[in-house]
Amino acid sequence: MNNKDFVKKLITWYNINKRELPWRDTRDPYKIWLSEIILQQTRVVQGLPYYNKFVEHFKKIEELAEADEQEVLRLWQGLGYYSRARNLHKCAKIVAKNFDGNFPFGYKNLIKLPGIGKYTAAAIASFAFGEKVAAVDGNVYRVLSRVYGIDADISTGKGQKVFEEWANDIIPDQQPDTFNQALMEFGAMQCTPKSPSCGDCVFRVECYARSNNMQGDLPVKSTRVKVQNRYFHYLVFKDGQKLAMKKRSGQDIWKGLYDFHLFESDESQDMDVLIEVDSLLKNVKDFISDVEISADYKHILTHRIINARFFTFFLKPGYDKALDKLMKEYELQFFSEKDIAELPKPVLVSRYLNGTIF
Ligand code: ADE
Repeated sequence: MNNKDFVKKLITWYNINKRELPWRDTRDPYKIWLSEIILQQTRVVQGLPYYNKFVEHFKKIEELAEADEQEVLRLWQGLGYYSRARNLHKCAKIVAKNFDGNFPFGYKNLIKLPGIGKYTAAAIASFAFGEKVAAVDGNVYRVLSRVYGIDADISTGKGQKVFEEWANDIIPDQQPDTFNQALMEFGAMQCTPKSPSCGDCVFRVECYARSNNMQGDLPVKSTRVKVQNRYFHYLVFKDGQKLAMKKRSGQDIWKGLYDFHLFESDESQDMDVLIEVDSLLKNVKDFISDVEISADYKHILTHRIINARFFTFFLKPGYDKALDKLMKEYELQFFSEKDIAELPKPVLVSRYLNGTIF
């Protein structure tokens, strides 16, 4: 199949089958950028309410730039990968300050901004500015590898380059933006990872994978992620109606969010072990009047399954200086229910709070 036929069939399919999505009705780089950052590793149904929330809350990039990081993180809450939210904020500040609130023109300039990689730069450049540059994401690898029978390994930079070159070779001069949207949409709706709809596919005759029954083998990905089980023992110290929480400061995915004192290990531990191994608990145990242990919460991330259990320790009434000092040492602070509602928190923690405590 020549490139022209591929493009024609694809765009005809798109015009009939496309979903109406708000970021497809605009050329505003700010809105397009927001949608693309939100949709990285997030499905459209899940990302759409966040997009609406951000556009509503921050009408212009300057408003986002001037917001508190906590406010941004709180609006982002539930989407995961919080470094994306921090980069979003960083990028907004740069665009507001250095570019007068206007995204710089063109792929080459966009890619220099924080949080904007090859795919996102290409998406913004084509959707907002009509630049002829292919936006290659997981959907595109899948469609091209199957239709054309390309067996380059998408877990390698070299393999990814093969697809980028292929897509940039096909992309038409006219409406390159529609081509990019269409290829992505085709991957999301028709040429799906599992059980693609080959029976009524516009490429059913030409498709290499269909002819060779290789839909399950393409695209080739040599490094499938290995999932690791981790066990989180959250130690929740409760003083009257207040809970001790801390702002996470480590360089991890939850940096800047609030959670409880945490004992983490690669296996589940009982209370008597926790009292021995966790130095804070060991020191606090004389101040405790009662303990409550939650059900198990499972939280699935790309590389890890977190198995969490929350141990609530009810502190004896009355202010105690020694206890106060200990809490400070471990960066814990007591917050009321009202305060906690305002704090940005990992979804795992919100699930627990909503279900149990208040
Ligand atoms: N996923 C990432 N970008 C998208 C877009 N522009 N439309 C639909 N799904 C997407």
